[in-house]
Amino acid sequence: MRHLSPIDQFITQADHALRTVLGRPRITERPNPASASESKLSDTERTQAAGLMRVNHSGEVSAQALYQGQALTARLENVRASMERAAMEENDHLAWTEQRLNELGSRKSLLNPIWYAGSFAIGAFAGAMGDRWSLGFVAETEHQVIRHLDDHLAKLPNQDIRSRQILEQMKEDEAHHATVALEGGGSPLPTPVKKLMAAMSKVMTTSAYYI
Ligand SMILES: [Fe+2]
Ligand SMILES: [Fe+2]
Repeated sequence: MRHLSPIDQFITQADHALRTVLGRPRITERPNPASASESKLSDTERTQAAGLMRVNHSGEVSAQALYQGQALTARLENVRASMERAAMEENDHLAWTEQRLNELGSRKSLLNPIWYAGSFAIGAFAGAMGDRWSLGFVAETEHQVIRHLDDHLAKLPNQDIRSRQILEQMKEDEAHHATVALEGGGSPLPTPVKKLMAAMSKVMTTSAYYI
């Protein structure tokens, strides 16, 4: 890999951040899993589905920032390729949830730049702690995301199959990301750290539903 000067690094990171929050980041070859036809939703159901999908979209903005922050500081020699693939799959999630928000006639969270900045800092910190901890951090994040997706699958209107198909595929991907991180040598995190992570994601999930 070419050695990047601090200015190159800064430009690369700023480019990533802007693409994630405002633009179209690079995605994989996979199609959007929402293949069902659009279902009839009442106004209340549509608002509920859009709120949940907005939270999921913000979660993916954070995921992207975590991976980028971590890539900046971690060594990750033996898992770099799989981590890069995982980061690109998070971009698929970002694109699919954004598309669904548009279909529901809604919008992305206005607070996304804040989620990005905060998560980037956390990712960079985790990366600096060493690969064992930073991979453990990825695995724990993914486990928490899976629990949260289950919760959303229970709350989504039953007939909103398109949103469900997206979340089901995301769940499968997140489980795979967690496995990759653990197989790459990730350590289980101490319970207080897990609790802190859960508390922080609660702030995000609650506010992104509305804002
Ligand atoms: Fe994701
Ligand atoms: Fe993931």
